[in-house]
Amino acid sequence: MAPDPERLHRPAGVDAVVRALADMTVERVAGAPAVGPVAPPPSPPPVTVTAEGIGADRALRVWAEQLAPACIAVDHPRYLAFIPGAPTPLAGAFDMLVGASSIYGGSWMEGAGAVLAENEALRWIADLAGLPERAGGVFVSGGTVGNLSALVAAREHARHTRSAVPARWAVCVTEETHSSVVQALRTVMDVDAVLVPGDARGRMTGAAMRATIDALPAERRDGIFAVVATAGSTNLGVVDDIAGVGEIARANGWWLHVDGAYGGAGLAAPSVRELYAGVEHADSFIVDPHKWLFSTFDCCALLYADPARARAAHMQHADYLDALNADADWNPSDYAIHLSRRARGLPFWFSLAAHGTDAYRDAIEHTLAVTRAGAELVRAAEHLDLVVESDLSVIVFARSGWEQADYARWSADLLRRQIGFLVPTRHRGRPCARLAVVNPLTTADDLREIFDSLR
Ligand SMILES: Cc1ncc(COP(=O)(O)O)c(C=O)c1O
Repeated sequence: MAPDPERLHRPAGVDAVVRALADMTVERVAGAPAVGPVAPPPSPPPVTVTAEGIGADRALRVWAEQLAPACIAVDHPRYLAFIPGAPTPLAGAFDMLVGASSIYGGSWMEGAGAVLAENEALRWIADLAGLPERAGGVFVSGGTVGNLSALVAAREHARHTRSAVPARWAVCVTEETHSSVVQALRTVMDVDAVLVPGDARGRMTGAAMRATIDALPAERRDGIFAVVATAGSTNLGVVDDIAGVGEIARANGWWLHVDGAYGGAGLAAPSVRELYAGVEHADSFIVDPHKWLFSTFDCCALLYADPARARAAHMQHADYLDALNADADWNPSDYAIHLSRRARGLPFWFSLAAHGTDAYRDAIEHTLAVTRAGAELVRAAEHLDLVVESDLSVIVFARSGWEQADYARWSADLLRRQIGFLVPTRHRGRPCARLAVVNPLTTADDLREIFDSLR
């Protein structure tokens, strides 16, 4: 049979399939999904990838009836594990259009309109942090790639500005620094981590950092090129002493990277803004809109105070790229470890533009108020202990007398009964549970129900 060039790209009945997908999207964003999987993953799995194709209708049915029900709803108000997501319906819907529009977000030449919109959203974040006018960056897939890209830029900068290269490069972190940073340093970059002991709540402080570096042998200290401060630790929701550690970094000519993948959104909330003092001196800063800024996966805003340093590290060179690199255009590809990229900041931009930044401020403040009410419930409960005072929207709590296995049983039972999704954790070896609130639809009553379930 002669090949039909239109078979894939102009299939008959495509409009009806797109409408069906749009209808399912409307239903999903307006509806109230169950928190847990409502069905186990189909076993044996349905055979869907075949030589002839099963047709869009059947593939869609398999998705809707067998596969989607085996996924947890991360945006459910009682999904409180890890760091949840809570994309606005506008962000979710716009993501659908972005995906269908084949927008290339890597270069100004190809995607100027998209880049312009993404940059306006990045500017809002840069202004919240008080970064300089020239600051800029790019949306990458997540905090992991954001942290890695920033640290690679930091080391390139050190390599090109130092008179001598140390035997081993090193970066200051704490035990609460996110695993992605340690992974970036040790496994990807072959860089040492200098462990600064956290204070009672795990915060990196200027005093502890000074004591740590003073105690290091000179050749180890000489290898330090950056400090990672965490603006909202994942497990505890605690913000490091950014001003204190930043001052030491500046005095030593070290790069200050601030990891706000989860907690950076708190910059928009007046009630906690004070905690971030010093972030305005960051050389690089990340925050994930797919966490507490109400956008869709996968989206991390990566900002540099001086983007030229990042460009020097990340811009790729090849004959076929000369056409893009010839002008001083703003090419998002130049600011992280990637080349091709989807314009993943657009769903965030669309929702932010439509709702306005005040609505974001209010929504983040609301989640903080609900968390504070939840922490109060824990303090008042005889069966529970508040393990650590969080700065942001995390609650870490322990049930008297419970071991790790009790938490694991409770967690599985909550999900099975569709009450909520939380997972056990540990704090300094002590088994406990934690929750994170990023969804403005989560209520104090939701938290009360969770806490009551540990009686
Ligand atoms: C503080 C912090 N940094 C980095 C990350 C990694 O982000 P991602 O999962 O988007 O790669 C997380 C994820 O929870 C985080 O909380």
